[in-house]
Amino acid sequence: MAAEADSPRAPFGRRACEVADSRESGGYRIFTLIDAEGPAPAAGQFYMLAAAPDWAGEGGRPYLPRAISYARVTENPKGGVRLDFLIDEVGPGTSRLARMKQGDECFVAGPFGNRFSLPRQLNEGAAGAILVGGGIGIAPMAVLRRELVNRGIPSRSLLGFRDQAHSGGVDELFGCEETRLAFEDGSYGHKGFVTDLLLQLLEGDDSGSAAIYSCGPPAMLEAVRRICADRGLPVELALESPMACGYGACFGCAVPKAEGGYMRLCVDGPVVRGDQIATAMAGEPAVG
Ligand SMILES: Cc1cc2nc3c(=O)[nH]c(=O)nc-3n(C[C@H](O)[C@H](O)[C@H](O)COP(=O)(O)OP(=O)(O)OC[C@H]3O[C@@H](n4cnc5c(N)ncnc54)[C@H](O)[C@@H]3O)c2cc1C
Ligand code: FES
Repeated sequence: MAAEADSPRAPFGRRACEVADSRESGGYRIFTLIDAEGPAPAAGQFYMLAAAPDWAGEGGRPYLPRAISYARVTENPKGGVRLDFLIDEVGPGTSRLARMKQGDECFVAGPFGNRFSLPRQLNEGAAGAILVGGGIGIAPMAVLRRELVNRGIPSRSLLGFRDQAHSGGVDELFGCEETRLAFEDGSYGHKGFVTDLLLQLLEGDDSGSAAIYSCGPPAMLEAVRRICADRGLPVELALESPMACGYGACFGCAVPKAEGGYMRLCVDGPVVRGDQIATAMAGEPAVG
């Protein structure tokens, strides 16, 4: 799996972290937690979050914490780190997280999972990286982009959204340089899928110099995986699957491997190489 040995390990158990900020962004919500005790996470990792008040509320849901990728990490002046998360309200857990206010407490476990490889680890001949993000999946791409900038590695970002109401985080998390946008409704940028932009870019590029990374909805990830497989291009995909524990105990997150058998996405992923899986369509969400 992708460079798992480098990934910081989560402290045992969950800890209460203070919400430092919460703001609207293009139909999504960005909130900031102060994690005074946790280690700095690595690009691709995620946390299991549960709002301290009102969790397991009406009808018992949300009961389990929710897996959320971090979108930015900065040093906290008083110790530990400040973590930004980008949230799309699709159900009771994400809605509750989005309703948290400054000063509230959030239970945090993590960071979990593995990290993205660097371009030369993924492809020896890589001159830089192409990042393909869709919807809420732009969060891990923003983290990876920042790491590549810090290391002086060139990258181009291709970001796709359904419409303006589901397009948060672009201005705050990505610079406009080397970033191209696609909107399915044609309201801005390219009208169509972000994979159209990837195909355009690959036509103009020496394919051998590309290291490709992607995170987004399963159908988009599967399209990226196929585009890369057809051209023999190395790609890392940050996948999603239903997660109940985050540390490998429940097997709720198991996805089939290309060679047969299963991997647990919370420990063997969420970052996987395209050739490790038969499909990026991970399966039905669990309810909990
Ligand atoms: C590694 C990882 C990173 C993630 N990062 C983020 C992130 O950064 N930001 C973010 O917003 N989300 C992220 N997610 C997704 C988020 O954890 C899930 O969408 C989570 O289930 C949301 O919880 P919920 O209670 O809001 O919605 P849920 O009730 O769990 O529903 C989630 C979605 O599944 C659908 N659904 C629920 N039950 C069923 C069912 N039985 N059959 C079919 N569809 C169903 C709902 O309609 C909804 O669209 C991540 C997930 C993983 C695994
Ligand atoms: S979420 Fe429990 S094993 Fe992966």
